[in-house]
Amino acid sequence: MKQFFTAGILAWNELQNDRSMPWKQEKDPYRIWLSEIILQQTRVEQGRPYYERFISAYPTITELADAPDEEVFRLWQGLGYYARCKNMLAAARTVARDGNGRFPNTYEGISALKGVGAYTAAAIASFAYNLPHAVLDGNVYRVLARFFGIDTPTDTTAGKKLFTQLAQDVLPVQQAGTYNQAIMDFGAVVCKPQTPRCKSCRLSSQCVAFQKGLTDLVPVKSKKLRIKKRYFYYLLLSKGALRYVRKRTGKDIWENLHEFPMIETPAPVSDAELLASPAFRALVGPGAVTVEQAFPERKQQLTHQTIHARFLRIGPEKAILPPKGFRAVSAAELELLAFPKIIVDFLKG
Ligand code: ADE
Repeated sequence: MKQFFTAGILAWNELQNDRSMPWKQEKDPYRIWLSEIILQQTRVEQGRPYYERFISAYPTITELADAPDEEVFRLWQGLGYYARCKNMLAAARTVARDGNGRFPNTYEGISALKGVGAYTAAAIASFAYNLPHAVLDGNVYRVLARFFGIDTPTDTTAGKKLFTQLAQDVLPVQQAGTYNQAIMDFGAVVCKPQTPRCKSCRLSSQCVAFQKGLTDLVPVKSKKLRIKKRYFYYLLLSKGALRYVRKRTGKDIWENLHEFPMIETPAPVSDAELLASPAFRALVGPGAVTVEQAFPERKQQLTHQTIHARFLRIGPEKAILPPKGFRAVSAAELELLAFPKIIVDFLKG
């Protein structure tokens, strides 16, 4: 069964896989690493243009290591989860400094880099050096759980151990890189989360989930992710043609990005409630102001939270005190600053 599985994945890859990606066939470990960092928590279609922009801005890891933080953050803008960007810069600087610009070429060396977990280390080690380390990402969990009919929850210690061992067992060590790429593509194209293409799947004759009608039931997770709702009210406060912004300092995923004056509430509030709140008055002052323009709510789904954001233009300008800690910047300067994705999308219109 294991042999059938591995041979089937390789045959599908050889004969039917037409998924093209700019980093496929790539052997430069820097480029592979960069693509994998960008693709952590990001869809391939969304990540692709970022990959192209990073490679053209920084053709080598030394150039990335030498770039100013702000410039790299700006290029990262829109990808979110800025810790990835910070770790990426730290790793680039480690390689440039400690490794003389030479990327590590062992699994252990690769794993030691900031922001590189087990999945990313296996991906780089196998794609760049054909080292026999099996990748285990969401695609691989799903493909293995279905084909072998495993209902052990993937988010438990026992589940992780079982799937890690199985993934390694079915890896063809001579073709680790090709196979790792193939099983992820197979999971994305054929053995998809919803409406998998079982009818045309060359593995279905021995696929336990297909034979038993379990494709929608595995893989299993033991915990349901608890998602918190957050409500952000961004205040568009002008000073002539300038807008008030500040750099965020809070230790969260948006640290060091910029933002407009903002009020967060645990539940939605009306405009009247917002304007009467102490938080609003602390920003705007006691003047008689109104919401002069309200934009439709925008939503952003993050791993553990849903952001509901509203952007409100507040006026008249003469009734507003300059908000403390914010500076007034021109439209041209706004273009140069890095913002959280929800603001970037708003500014794009
Ligand atoms: N997701 C992250 N890395 C990937 C890769 N190399 N191929 C397909 N999907 C991916």
